[in-house]
Amino acid sequence: ANKLILDTDGGVDDAQALLLLIAHGRTPVAVTTVFGNVGLDAATDNILATLATAGVSVPVHKGADRPLVQKTIDATDIHGEDGLGGAPRPARVDAPASDDAVAFLRASFREAARSGLKVDMLMIGPLTNLALALRTEPAIAAGIGRLTIMGATVYGRGNVTPAAEFNIFADPEAAEIVFSSAIDMVVVPWEPCLKHPISGEAVDALFASLPASPVRDFSQALARHIRQGTMARGGADCLDLVDPLAAAVLLEPGIVTRSLSASIGVSLAPGLTRGMTVIDPSGRLGSPKVTIIEEVDAERLASLYAVSAAYPS
Ligand code: BDR
Ligand code: CA
Repeated sequence: ANKLILDTDGGVDDAQALLLLIAHGRTPVAVTTVFGNVGLDAATDNILATLATAGVSVPVHKGADRPLVQKTIDATDIHGEDGLGGAPRPARVDAPASDDAVAFLRASFREAARSGLKVDMLMIGPLTNLALALRTEPAIAAGIGRLTIMGATVYGRGNVTPAAEFNIFADPEAAEIVFSSAIDMVVVPWEPCLKHPISGEAVDALFASLPASPVRDFSQALARHIRQGTMARGGADCLDLVDPLAAAVLLEPGIVTRSLSASIGVSLAPGLTRGMTVIDPSGRLGSPKVTIIEEVDAERLASLYAVSAAYPS
């Protein structure tokens, strides 16, 4: 497999996604962080805490602390003030490797384009870092192997507004730059993330079956926070996997049971539709080149998740 760079805004499910990659042998060669669920500093701390909990050392580069055009938003209402729902933190964490993720991405993909050894990327936060890199050096697109993104809506049902999903709404101009590039892309939109819940009972049984360990206790706290949030919003007691779904699709493409090929446009107009994605399989927005995931095998997803909670056993 190609080397992998993870770009993340350090929320509760971002930590789960990173653990999933590590547990399944696809530890990123580097992580770049971005504002989003929490501010940039907290997002970076959360990723360093996740890595230390798993006992792995990976360079973490701090990226954009704000969107290209609009004001910065966050999602501490969903992810908690610390962005990790109060999950236990390790005593010691590494320091960030740099505070210039955009320069790091440009250098990595430039070298990948030169050597022919392409690098894959998984993005589970606002798309600002890659947009900045592409805007200043478009040729780096040639060094990107496959880009997997959690973001957008496929049927027009948003989470942050009725029409828009958080990662796009947080920086629509950046999303437009990334979606209009010629990179080979797989997009996991918001709606399919709600289609494969793991029941609260199954989650409890999973954690009860595992011996206490830093990863188990951390994962359990993350899962508990998500379940409580879902119930507080009137949902059933279940665990929806959002960023981990994108990680799972990257790890195991065969997990996908339904997808479509389309182009993605982003509504940049102010008002009700800002940040909404327009999915076009018809070719009118350009030849359909993005694979959009609509459904996966729920059992296989749950098994991938179970292995990550048991790491490093
Ligand atoms: C996305 O936004 C964040 O809340 C999650 O981490 C996920 O990346 C869902 O809209
Ligand atoms: Ca995220």
